[in-house]
Amino acid sequence: MTEQNHPWQTVCPATDLVPGRFIEFRLKQKAREPEGMPLTGFVFLDGSEPKAYLNLCPHLGIELNWMPGKFMDADNLFIQCSTHGALFKPGTGECIAGPCQGDALTALDVRQNGDQIEIRLED
Ligand code: FES
Repeated sequence: MTEQNHPWQTVCPATDLVPGRFIEFRLKQKAREPEGMPLTGFVFLDGSEPKAYLNLCPHLGIELNWMPGKFMDADNLFIQCSTHGALFKPGTGECIAGPCQGDALTALDVRQNGDQIEIRLED
């Protein structure tokens, strides 16, 4: 696939991406099958590095969070699925506990372009 098939999409000003904040967005270019619902994702800082994943638990293919912007477990160490409690490493998306252990979140490309944060589906 080419960059043309997966264009960069602006999701927020870089100044919005502060430690502990998770910013949700809808992907413009792809819908979730078979329902045709828009795919959603989230971006956050892992240390000082921006990370972005699809908001899609590999267990049942549903969104991870019930509360807007709430993705971390009680200890603030892992991304946690609110449905069955699967835990994911923030830096890699790898599931380390729960029904989808060994699977992983789908990472998105993320970059800062000027004063904006942009994402795109990985090729
Ligand atoms: S739907 Fe996420 S752990 Fe079951």
